[in-house]
Amino acid sequence: MQHLDLKKVKADKTLIGKSVTVCGWVRTSRDSKNVAFAELNDGSELEHTQIVFDKAVFTDGNKLASMLSLGAAIKVVGTVEHGLKDEDVEIRAAQAELLGGSGTDYPLQKKRHTMEYLRTIPHLRVRTNTFNAVFRVRSELSYAIHEYFHRNGYYYVHSPIITGSDCEGAGEVFKVTTVGFDPKIKTEDEYYKNDFFGKPAGLTVSGQLEGEVMATALGRIYTFGPTFRAENSNTPRHAAEFWQVEPEVAFADIDDIIGIATDMIKYITRHVLDNCKKELEFFDMRFENGLIAKLQNVADSEFARVDYTEAIEILKKSGKQFVYPVEWGLDLQTEHERYLTDEYYKKPVFVVNYPRKIKAFYMKQNPDGKTVAATDLLVPGVGEIIGCSERENDYDKLLAEISSRGMKLSDYDNYLDLRKFGSVPHSGFGLGLERMLMYVTGMTNIRDTIEFPRTKDELR
Ligand code: 4AD
Ligand code: MG
Repeated sequence: MQHLDLKKVKADKTLIGKSVTVCGWVRTSRDSKNVAFAELNDGSELEHTQIVFDKAVFTDGNKLASMLSLGAAIKVVGTVEHGLKDEDVEIRAAQAELLGGSGTDYPLQKKRHTMEYLRTIPHLRVRTNTFNAVFRVRSELSYAIHEYFHRNGYYYVHSPIITGSDCEGAGEVFKVTTVGFDPKIKTEDEYYKNDFFGKPAGLTVSGQLEGEVMATALGRIYTFGPTFRAENSNTPRHAAEFWQVEPEVAFADIDDIIGIATDMIKYITRHVLDNCKKELEFFDMRFENGLIAKLQNVADSEFARVDYTEAIEILKKSGKQFVYPVEWGLDLQTEHERYLTDEYYKKPVFVVNYPRKIKAFYMKQNPDGKTVAATDLLVPGVGEIIGCSERENDYDKLLAEISSRGMKLSDYDNYLDLRKFGSVPHSGFGLGLERMLMYVTGMTNIRDTIEFPRTKDELR
């Protein structure tokens, strides 16, 4: 269907006075005696474009009404004219056609709907300004991630979605099986023998283990795809399906990878600041006052860095009454992370050298024997957005760690082999795309940053 994007019509001032064909959905409309107006949006930009219907031209009142109804899809041929404000243009319709009508039962009426209500209509919520903006930023952010890694000599590799191992060892793996309930099956062995792979399989929680394989041949790689966690927690920060960016770098230690993570976060933040101005202004006004200044600060200033051990001291001295205990050896809870980022540092902070016992099996053990070369990047308002570490590259230490955690050795044969043949220091991290999007847009619930959220008891 030949037509111009509304964004193009607005940007190209040479079109003023000329005839164009545009399409879109009616967001709002107004009807008066001699003239009617429709605010049209085709998804090419946040702002709507005003279409003016002269009633001397559009004499069929019923037909005009159908084209003015909220949610209707229309095609308009008309002349581009100056709008009220200098930078505005509007289109005076000469012909118009109803592509898809809409009724009074259209769920998006002319009022501000709650985010909770909008979650019940995932197929329509993207037609609101808020979600139009969120998903435009999501697209730009993803593009910027690819651009960053491409420009810096990384290869984009694809790790499998179906795996036989649990990378994080947290037991939050969704099972992949073709065998249904069968009362004849008595044991686990019997069950899996008849299953598709002849052994337990699951949806990947992380592409890291395969990423390490690729990095120890290609040098610098990243994966960027969906990952899955059957976490039972119903929080505003956890989704069962989320997108993760996972670079893995050979010949890099923990300090190198912290530098890379910092550089990447700054780069993609700058990209969004430069390419999503209208969207960020909208979020700043409607969702988080000061958002743009915050992001500018992220792009321009240094991140903080603190040792886990020191962070525990800071929390203990805070004078705060936390719900969860603060003790060396215990994991940081959301309330602790929020204190560190929102109140103490007031900017992104890398917490480094966590106790070995609370972190994953693959992390490099520090000489103290108690901690690992791992870090989480915490940001104000959201908490952890990156999980990062240098990997254990010593065969014996890794073997001992896998065994002592009761993990099945045969699942990690290949992974251990990497430490047997040409083992090198290497490091990587995982950035949760939706968490980053929460930080960038000011959305306070992860369900509002992914098109079709999958969370506990929610699958629409
Ligand atoms: O800290 P995590 O568990 O680290 C890993 O999976 C490593 N294998 C990554 C690596 O080193 N290659 O997860 C990484 C990030 C978190 O910091 C968070 O941003 C996001 O993934 N994340 C989630 N996002 C949404 N919902 C969930 N349930 C998430 N779990 C983790
Ligand atoms: Mg983590």
